[in-house]
Amino acid sequence: MKVELARSAGFCYGVRRAVRMAEEAAAQGMPCVMLGPIIHNSDVIRYLEKRGVGLIQCPEQAPEGAAVIIRSHGEGKAVHEALAHRGCPVIDATCPNVSRIHRIVEEAEGEGRQVLIVGTADHPEVSAIAGWCAHPVVLEGKADLERWLEEDPKRRQIPLTMVSQTTSTHFIWTECVKKAKKECTNLKIFDTICNATYKRQSEAQELAARSDAMVVIGGRESSNTKRLAQLCGALCPKVVWIERAAELEPSTLYRKASIGITAGASTPEWIIKEVYDKMSDEHIEIEESFAEMLEKSI
Ligand code: F3S
Repeated sequence: MKVELARSAGFCYGVRRAVRMAEEAAAQGMPCVMLGPIIHNSDVIRYLEKRGVGLIQCPEQAPEGAAVIIRSHGEGKAVHEALAHRGCPVIDATCPNVSRIHRIVEEAEGEGRQVLIVGTADHPEVSAIAGWCAHPVVLEGKADLERWLEEDPKRRQIPLTMVSQTTSTHFIWTECVKKAKKECTNLKIFDTICNATYKRQSEAQELAARSDAMVVIGGRESSNTKRLAQLCGALCPKVVWIERAAELEPSTLYRKASIGITAGASTPEWIIKEVYDKMSDEHIEIEESFAEMLEKSI
């Protein structure tokens, strides 16, 4: 059995940065809490909680004097204002790629443009982006755009600015862009899909296409992991989605000659290593890419 790990599996730059910022705050003995789970991974949340980083769900729960860590998904303007109003110090771990989208949509609305966000409506990153506009429209795909334009044909002439959730697929984005370019007369487009996502998705697809089975590691709540599982499922006959090594049933991979592993952006290296170790026996050499990856610290 050959086990191959996708090079880009696991933490992306933004998630790694956010976890490091939380760790550093805890190491300095600073009382701090994260506003919402910093990533979709319960093991990492427990790890941070053990180091004294509490978890709150809204600004009103912030203990007096504690710094509030904003996760890589970012938060809307109202949340920043609520924290400032309560006098909470903020450790802003919003991924710089996401902060850029906040600036784009805020400026666009300031110029009187209608903001269109291509993404999953209930995803925290999309809610946060929408939270920088007064009248955002969220489109889950081309069908939503068609419906929105049909509702009022004058919308084809108004100034529009279109951005994407960082973890959208290129397929969904390109379909929306093509439709908008064809129909709308005053359109500004910002391709804000994160390159890390694109790379992870395309590497997972390449691996899936030449593997008998794919193991996708990531939290059940993680939309980028869900997308990875969907993309792999279109190219590979067997996809197993797990959150941690203990969930892996070796019998599900019985008689598979080649198995690929990929992992969502919020999966830490130690979980990937556990899964890899469980699947590998002493006859399988650790791939060079994996050895390199282990050298990275959180
Ligand atoms: Fe940032 Fe891209 Fe990760 S937007 S949080 S580096 S997926």
